Amino acid sequence: MPFTHIPVLYRQTIDFLRPVSNGRYIDGTFGAGGHSIGILQASAPDGHVLAFDKDPEAITFGMGQMGEYEGRITAVNASYADMESIAPAHGFDQVDGILLDLGLSSRQLDNAQRGFSFMRDGQLDMRFDPTQGETAADLINNLTESELANIIWRYGEDRRSRKMARLIVANRPINSTHRLANLIAQKMSNPRRRIHPATQLFQALRIAVNHELEAVETGIPAAINLLKPGGRIAVISFHSLEDRFVKQLFRRLTKTCICPPRQPICTCDTKPTLKRITRKPIQANEQESKENPRSRSARLRVAEKL
Ligand SMILES: C[S@@+](CC[C@H](N)C(=O)[O-])C[C@H]1O[C@@H](n2cnc3c(N)ncnc32)[C@H](O)[C@@H]1O
Repeated sequence: MPFTHIPVLYRQTIDFLRPVSNGRYIDGTFGAGGHSIGILQASAPDGHVLAFDKDPEAITFGMGQMGEYEGRITAVNASYADMESIAPAHGFDQVDGILLDLGLSSRQLDNAQRGFSFMRDGQLDMRFDPTQGETAADLINNLTESELANIIWRYGEDRRSRKMARLIVANRPINSTHRLANLIAQKMSNPRRRIHPATQLFQALRIAVNHELEAVETGIPAAINLLKPGGRIAVISFHSLEDRFVKQLFRRLTKTCICPPRQPICTCDTKPTLKRITRKPIQANEQESKENPRSRSARLRVAEKL
């Protein structure tokens, strides 16, 4: 394989998408381009990929990885949530497969200046696109205590959300990752928990800063609209809220009837849009989980357009 980092659930994702030569594929979350390379390899000699990433640095780095495949991939610095308006202009209006590998990349996590990691000191930024929108520091320093608590509760699923929000507000301003992480570690550490006490807080801030759930809720229906009959969508999620949305959307779009359960005769004339290819989410096996701890929370779901 030409890349150093192996993407999460790599083999399973490519096998489910089953790329064919001459096919057209969208990679909505390009990152370092690992999954795109897999699609390009499997769709040789003339399959094409249209890739999206909000992070301009990811586009530059990922395209630098494409080597012999460069001529068969176009990368756009935009949100996958906007794919329905952007893709047709690139000739991608009836596509054979779409992949979304949600969340952040290890390159983003490892770069202290991006402010995603409590392990590395940097400005609390966390924007996938550093040219737009509010930073994590903006949220930390400007939201009310109850707004902060709601974000920590909803996106971090952390039961200590109210206490954490109170602590943050009492210690503002907070502008660096280490200052925030140390504050939480000093005041809220729990010896029974194996993870760093700020883990869920950092996840919650990242999801809020990047409006990640809104992107999922707009982008996945848009992706399904762009698929041609027989085309497949594969979504890898790392958060239970995202996975639940994908599961429920796929389930709803496979239904043949949405009449109330007590109604004796069907009058809704519903036509299913999708066939589910995976009934249960695909998860990393033991070996992948050991080699790449991040893969442990990955859930892959795949559906096919009818
Ligand atoms: C987990 S990484 C993808 C890794 C990639 N599959 C690979 O093999 O290298 C997720 C990427 O999606 C990008 N991203 C997150 N939300 C996005 C959105 N709404 N639109 C476009 N890109 C997004 C992030 O900037 C990040 O680069």
